[in-house]
Amino acid sequence: MSKFYLTTPIYYVNDIPHIGHAYTTVMADVISRYKKLCGYQVLFLTGTDEHGQKIERSAAKQGLTPKGLADAMVEQFKQLWSTLNIEYDSFIRTTDEVHVKGVQKIFSRVMEKGDIYLGEYAGHYCISCENFISDSVEETAGGMRTCPDCGRPTDNRVKEKCYFFRLSAYGDRLLKFYAENPEFVTPQTRMNEVVSFVKMGLRDLSVTRSTVKWGIPVPGDPQQTIYVWFDALSNYITAIDYLEESERFGTYWPADLHVMAKDILKYHAVYWPAFLMAAGLPLPKKELIHGWWLKDEKKMSKSSGNVLDPHILLKYFSADAIRYFLMREASIGADGNFSHEGFINRINTDLTNDWANLVSRTTGMIEKYFNNAFSLKAQYSEKEETIRQQYLELEPRVLEYFDQYQFNRGLEDIFAYINQLNRYIVDAQPWNLAKTQESLPRLEGVLKTLARAIISINTLLAPVLPETAAKVHRIFNHASFELGWKNLPEKFTITQGEQLFPRVESKVFFAETEIVPPTPQGESASVAEGVIEIEDFKKVKMVVARVLEAEKVEKADKLLKLTIDTGDGTRTLVAGIALFYKPEDLVGRKIIIVKNLKPAKLRGILSQGMILAASDAGNRPYIPILPEDTPVGAILK
Ligand code: MSP
Repeated sequence: MSKFYLTTPIYYVNDIPHIGHAYTTVMADVISRYKKLCGYQVLFLTGTDEHGQKIERSAAKQGLTPKGLADAMVEQFKQLWSTLNIEYDSFIRTTDEVHVKGVQKIFSRVMEKGDIYLGEYAGHYCISCENFISDSVEETAGGMRTCPDCGRPTDNRVKEKCYFFRLSAYGDRLLKFYAENPEFVTPQTRMNEVVSFVKMGLRDLSVTRSTVKWGIPVPGDPQQTIYVWFDALSNYITAIDYLEESERFGTYWPADLHVMAKDILKYHAVYWPAFLMAAGLPLPKKELIHGWWLKDEKKMSKSSGNVLDPHILLKYFSADAIRYFLMREASIGADGNFSHEGFINRINTDLTNDWANLVSRTTGMIEKYFNNAFSLKAQYSEKEETIRQQYLELEPRVLEYFDQYQFNRGLEDIFAYINQLNRYIVDAQPWNLAKTQESLPRLEGVLKTLARAIISINTLLAPVLPETAAKVHRIFNHASFELGWKNLPEKFTITQGEQLFPRVESKVFFAETEIVPPTPQGESASVAEGVIEIEDFKKVKMVVARVLEAEKVEKADKLLKLTIDTGDGTRTLVAGIALFYKPEDLVGRKIIIVKNLKPAKLRGILSQGMILAASDAGNRPYIPILPEDTPVGAILK
């Protein structure tokens, strides 16, 4: 049996787990279940990153020890993973002894090799990213720098004795590795980013801190603690017993897949391979980099204050519904904006209307017309063969998408097939077939075909919807989860089950949770920069007016004073068009004005509105020409 070792990032324990963390972990769980379905011996690792200044500070603020904070948060992560049916095989904490000693081992190895040396670091540090900020990042006023990764200001200049990793020596080797393994990072755009980053040149990297106490002591120099990223990345090997280099390590390393979001790409695709090269260890085979879940156009994160707590959704929806939404809605590589409205619509449409309904209609008819057991006289037609063929074409397509981790596309195709099955019911009209004795064998053929299609599809859906898949299999008294068209025997019985995805009305959800629903135009209408709502536009009252009189304003070369008729009265305007328009050209002409502009005095004349004109780069005005029959007072809208 081939092995498949996959990992999630280990999460910082200063943050409560939110939808963003859930996304990565659900994705890894889906991959793990899918690989198991394909016959792999899978090891799925997740865990927590517990050292460093960020955790130290966060704990101090809460009056806790760092370990106390970590212990409490680990429970929160584990509890959420269990609720979401995440079946990890191993959970590593960076405070575990096997990790601490393992990190010291790899550190010593690299040091013995001469790639870690003692020096001094002077520069900026971003605590949020636990990132050293290179001096090439420009200083802003006041000596601050902006972290290139998270954009937060950093003014804590550090100057300390520390150990450096000779990263600069690895540029060429890394580039060679990327060239030989062009799919090391997927999607391709992220691989390109990594290559450009390395091509810009690599500087040696500080890998210890003397001022941070909450960390793993440097072997032989306990005044120093190991830099949190060196510590954290090593989890992928310490968790499988790099310390003893036992059989487990031999079996599972190198990892087949590291899953993460784009924020930590550099650490995984540049630093981590370099550390491994230095330690003489094989490199991971692939890194899957997904986008961010945004809320209000910003990355969901505790510091932005826009995190979504999955527990609110879990009050109304099953874990499977959340898993489905995350896998269906976001495409690898792109960022996704989370909207509750979008969530509810997606679940109600796909899972309630299409999938659950297909299962309940089919089982309902088997119960109604055959009392849950068949009479063994099924008759099949070409239509049933088409349903089977369509499945046989669908399955390899879906597997290919899943193999490329394009779950959204695989699910899209699965649901297109589910819709075909729903249409097949309408076409076959089982309710009419049930009316006469002669057509009962046809009815049996239709319902058995639906049952077989459902069980087949259910296996494909199982990695994403594990709980529901188990329920559906139970309904059909079917045990095996194997791929392929499920040729259920002619003789089988069913057991009615509970409703799979009860509908949640969005009105009820928004009223009870007090979450503010999006505006009727949809959330995205107001999001792009510079885009306005129709209501904003309506605030500007523009009308057609006729120029009654026009004259130059004394001692002002550019200004004309116009008396105009707006259809409901006359008023005065002052316009800066005198260099280009003579008064006599304007008298009698129809123009467009903004009628509700706040009046302003120009050269002592009260101007009540503004004439509209197009203007070129040199500010030359062009007054639009309206059709002769446009009524004075007509509104522009
Ligand atoms: N501790 C480091 C990782 C060390 S791995 C050796 C860390 N932790 S973290 O808690 O900040 O988690 C970052 C990861 O959480 C992201 O790479 C991503 O997998 C997941 N996400 C956190 N917020 C997210 C979104 N808003 N959207 C998508 N994924 C998100 O970095």
